Amino acid sequence: MPHALITGANRGLGLGHTRALLERGWTVHAAVRDPGGADALKDLAEGGHDGELKLHAYDARESDAADRLAREIAEPLDILFANAGVMGPDAQGFGEVEYEGFLDTMRVNVMGPLALAQAFADQVARSTLKVIALQSSRMGSIEDNDSGGRYAYRASKAALNMVGKSLSLDLKDKGVIVLVLHPGWVRTDMGGPKGLLTVEESVEGELDLIARANPAMSGRFFHVNGEDLPW
Ligand SMILES: NC(=O)c1ccc[n+]([C@@H]2O[C@H](COP(=O)([O-])OP(=O)(O)OC[C@H]3O[C@@H](n4cnc5c(N)ncnc54)[C@H](OP(=O)(O)O)[C@@H]3O)[C@@H](O)[C@H]2O)c1
Repeated sequence: MPHALITGANRGLGLGHTRALLERGWTVHAAVRDPGGADALKDLAEGGHDGELKLHAYDARESDAADRLAREIAEPLDILFANAGVMGPDAQGFGEVEYEGFLDTMRVNVMGPLALAQAFADQVARSTLKVIALQSSRMGSIEDNDSGGRYAYRASKAALNMVGKSLSLDLKDKGVIVLVLHPGWVRTDMGGPKGLLTVEESVEGELDLIARANPAMSGRFFHVNGEDLPW
């Protein structure tokens, strides 16, 4: 059965992906900040599906987090899903942005996924699907930005998009397909209750995209509905 590594797997979209892949019989390496407190994952580990769940400690803020994970996971990875992310500080309007909160957002949303890709590229390349999925956001689209503000979050997702494009070129010869995804506006802690999609709807859309991943899709920015988004 295929294997996936999903970060931020204890709630929101990461939990939704973990659940969906376990139901499909996958082995899922769920990487979370606090494995001891990951109650929803512990429930999933108890069964009710054909898959296998393996829990790992992972904090994207720590510079050796990806390398430590890579020492724990030896098998080929069909999907590396860099999903964990933060909105960043509450105050991100013009005139409010400060260094530490901005840099922290970049650390989690940009360097975290890049470090994972560097640590796991060869394991992804040895798998069947060979997909690296980056959980980006339409808020990182420069062309789509018509309301300003949210400097840290927007800049971090724009930078993540650039990371995805470079990864697609650097990993092309290994056969790795890099998908940059916008999950839609989803009802999670981050998306809030007014989001347009349930976690299940977003996860289904993203997994459909991943299932039909091919080299022509690598390095492109996709809305969960399958449409290309402008950078
Ligand atoms: N929801 C939306 O509408 C929406 C739209 C566009 C993009 N996205 C993106 O989708 C991804 C998931 O978002 P979500 O809506 O599921 O958000 P969420 O419910 O707030 O979940 C965020 C996840 O990221 C984890 N995380 C945060 N900081 C971390 C760190 N330093 N190290 C490891 N894990 C960390 C959280 O773990 P803890 O529980 O330990 O905090 C949690 O599992 C994010 O990258 C987000 O930017 C979401």
